[in-house]
Amino acid sequence: MILATYTFPEGFLWGCATSSHQVEGNNINNDWWAWEQEEGRILNGDRSGKACDWWAGRWREDFDRAKAGYQNAQRISVEWSRVQPDRDRWDESALDRYRQMLMGLKERGMVPMVTLHHFTNPLWLAELGGWENDEVVELFGEYTRKTVDALKAHCDFWVTINEPNVYMAGGYLGGGFVPGKNDVKLAIKVLTNMVKAHARAYEIIHELQSEARVGIAHHWRGFMPAKKGFLTRRVADLYNTAFDNAFAEALRSGKFDAKIYKENIPQAKDTQDFFGINYYGRQEVRSDLFKPSSMYSEYGYPKDFELSDSGFVANDPEGFRACIRWANSFGLPIYITENGTEDSKDVFRRKFLVDHIIAMWREINHNIPVKGYFHWSLVDNFEWNLGWERRFGFWQLDVNTQQRTQRDSGKLYAEICRTNSLSWDAIEKHAPELYEHVFGTPELKG
Ligand code: BGC
Repeated sequence: MILATYTFPEGFLWGCATSSHQVEGNNINNDWWAWEQEEGRILNGDRSGKACDWWAGRWREDFDRAKAGYQNAQRISVEWSRVQPDRDRWDESALDRYRQMLMGLKERGMVPMVTLHHFTNPLWLAELGGWENDEVVELFGEYTRKTVDALKAHCDFWVTINEPNVYMAGGYLGGGFVPGKNDVKLAIKVLTNMVKAHARAYEIIHELQSEARVGIAHHWRGFMPAKKGFLTRRVADLYNTAFDNAFAEALRSGKFDAKIYKENIPQAKDTQDFFGINYYGRQEVRSDLFKPSSMYSEYGYPKDFELSDSGFVANDPEGFRACIRWANSFGLPIYITENGTEDSKDVFRRKFLVDHIIAMWREINHNIPVKGYFHWSLVDNFEWNLGWERRFGFWQLDVNTQQRTQRDSGKLYAEICRTNSLSWDAIEKHAPELYEHVFGTPELKG
């Protein structure tokens, strides 16, 4: 039997990631809440409702769970619509509640990472046209100033915007997100406004807190052409540039280049202190010259990929390695700001977790500075347009009773966090079926 251990560097951060709307509950003043009330928007007609009931105080027990699971960091988000319920009104009590949450993390020995924008907008902003309106750059700056100033004694680790490309494609290229549009021009407007808003926020945060570390949670898909044909390669190349790379590149060079649109945004140059990655699997592009309607819309996971329950997430650790290498080309410390899978049965998740942790370990051993890993997610939470059917938590949530039950993958993750490693005996205890998959059959025959 092989008694091997994948050990991580000292001081490595292990935690989970969540976002305000998905866990807080009763976020009635934002555009997603309004969207959920419309028929046909959310799978099964689900609503976020109480979500994980954090706003009413259950963050305490969930932070206790994270601490009991030896996590030493936690990524949470602040809800803009709570901090600024109207354009000309700030809610100090909301800021105070976030302050308590951050102090709660500190008391439990966890480093907080705070996201300022995770998909939702205050209703008043949505009414102004949200991210389509150039005014959003200054408005986001004001909200950032207010929030960071109020919380800076308790956090110095900021994600300005979560997954700008997913926000753009989900909301403006027919992806089933608010505001449900399908318009390339608007999509570009939204994305470039997010570059500008990030740059503005970066400047403000550093003005308020010189030691701050500021970044973006970048979502990466590593599009591969399914066929060798010229067209398929061209489309994959366009996606890789426009969806995966353009935003990050603009924050390095001040040049936004999505092939179909270019703009110089010099104020965005060098506005990241770390590089955040959200990774859920690569995709392949299947555009067909003879099916013009499929040209830009035919993509998905390759047939031979292992998929989660509903096919929503792929177990593609090789893609994770490629993603980490891509991130490393930006020359910054890297944090995995999200990685995880839906899996109500919790069999796929354990393999997914082990495979991704090992993939990350390999890249670290090639001297790539990955400094922390935030799993998505701690407790099952409201999965946007897919409602409550997709279960991403280490803890299973009964939405009606608010009862939490730990899944085996949660126990495995606790062992990883406790020992800062993935050891043979953690696998033997919590995922014995994976032993051979990880270590092979060591006995020499004959
Ligand atoms: C988002 C999360 C979401 C997760 C799982 C990420 O794209 O940032 O909000 O829950 O994926 O789909």
